[in-house]
Amino acid sequence: MKKTRLLSSALAGLAVLVFCAVSGRAEVNVIPRPLEVEETAGKSLKLTKETVLTSDDPALAALAADSIATRTGLRLPAKNKDGAIGPGLSIRTTNPIPGVSTLGNEGYILETFQSRCGPAFSICSASPAGAFYGLQTFLQLLQKDADGDWSLPIVKITDKPRFAWRGLLLDDARRFFGKGNLKRFLDIMAHYKFNTLQWHLTEDWGWHIEIKKYPKLTSVGAWRNDPKIPGKKPDGKPHGGFYTQDDIREIVAYAAARHITIVPEIEIPAHSNAALAAYPQFGPDDMPKYKPFVGGTWGSRYLFAPKEETFQFLNDVLDEVCELFPSKIIHIGGDEAETKVWTKSPATLEVMRKNKLKNVEELQSWFVRRIEKHLLDKGRRIIGWEEIAQGGLSPTAVMMVWRYDGGKAAKDALANGNNIVMTPFSHCYYDFREGNFPKDPIYKPFGRDTISLKKAYEFEPVPAGITPEQEKRILGCQANVWGENLYTLGKAEYQTFPRALAMSEVAWSAKSGKDWSDFQKRLPASLAWLDRLKVNYRKSDGTPAQPDLPHVYLGE
Ligand code: ACM
Repeated sequence: MKKTRLLSSALAGLAVLVFCAVSGRAEVNVIPRPLEVEETAGKSLKLTKETVLTSDDPALAALAADSIATRTGLRLPAKNKDGAIGPGLSIRTTNPIPGVSTLGNEGYILETFQSRCGPAFSICSASPAGAFYGLQTFLQLLQKDADGDWSLPIVKITDKPRFAWRGLLLDDARRFFGKGNLKRFLDIMAHYKFNTLQWHLTEDWGWHIEIKKYPKLTSVGAWRNDPKIPGKKPDGKPHGGFYTQDDIREIVAYAAARHITIVPEIEIPAHSNAALAAYPQFGPDDMPKYKPFVGGTWGSRYLFAPKEETFQFLNDVLDEVCELFPSKIIHIGGDEAETKVWTKSPATLEVMRKNKLKNVEELQSWFVRRIEKHLLDKGRRIIGWEEIAQGGLSPTAVMMVWRYDGGKAAKDALANGNNIVMTPFSHCYYDFREGNFPKDPIYKPFGRDTISLKKAYEFEPVPAGITPEQEKRILGCQANVWGENLYTLGKAEYQTFPRALAMSEVAWSAKSGKDWSDFQKRLPASLAWLDRLKVNYRKSDGTPAQPDLPHVYLGE
């Protein structure tokens, strides 16, 4: 038996490729790269329609049977037993073998071997999440052998994630993806072991979550008369959409079955044009020139005003949000507030005077802390963009680092004792171009900055020069798919993939296991899977993978 750090160089990769072709051995092309892979020489093991599936977790067994059928066309017969290891595929979630308990809740051991009675495939973990991730690895190991049958290599994979927060942000407020497209994203995320979706639901361009107590948030705030598509003018027609509370419950459950926590983002105090168009009384209505409307560019000047009735409104909204989302952490935005506008409102100046707030930064901090207190009382923590540190960061808040300043904001928050999530725009903003783009104007990217696949892969979430104690407070990392320019699903996928696969490895794989040339070697197997799903990823020459995809606008 030889123990490898999964195929560690392009050269080794090439040699293995040749070896596999002559020996009938399958390859290990898993993304994100597992912690440890022990390969055993020998022929690959066949999975057939006779391979019996057993599990101690019926829901996971059903999901496994479905995903194996989707991948291979084989519907494995399932048996309900707790699955002693033997021939067939056994998936066990309750810490059944030595070593699994040291891998945490998301770790697993996957073993394939030839038993006396036939090929055996075993996935063991200490929790359903770990077994789910073992299943994703199992699916990626499946490949067609020389006989045209489905088979897997003989391996023992011991795996666990580097970070607890492995996130993607989807901007579903500037655009409107809808339930079907969202579930498609969740499926792909889960396959690449992401566990957090930051769902950006409210913006200047639209408020897309139903709040029963304030129906105008969606009857007015979900719709703009401007398609926000280059070359198209405001046309008086409604553009947008919203998720009903039933839709949200359905999506949250769908994500939970795939071990993804949805962290809803409700933007406070800025990016609130749409909410204020619906309920102007919660803005600074003593400013005569102030007239919020759904749309605008970055309408960050239209802020919620720090009035008692605004806090009541926001608390009511957050109460309904907490009912819908079990996430222990709620994103309250906090970014890009042009707080100096507050000084133009006599009522706001009076609030500052009464509360002895010296400047608008202190007012923003006070505002955020009031929102945080309400959420803490409900057993939830807040996370916010790094501007929530302006005027003083609450010790219990989690800060999301997005501006690129060489790590200073991150280090300041860590020194302050806060937890953070890293998503700097230098490496993690996938609305930025990946490189050259085709002539088709639909693919014209946003901004001047380029984040190549290699740059996305090379992102290191832990800034240099912090202590081991501080490092533990980095919860993880995230890539953001902002929607200003992503007006079709095809364009959103073009910007997201394959860079999201690079992020999956940044977030999951051990730092010592990261290897760009090895990632490139493993990538084609994943791209072949994305091809099967008809995902419009960006090919390395810049062309879209699905050139014939009709350009259906999101939120039309
Ligand atoms: C952000 O990009 N404004 C968080």
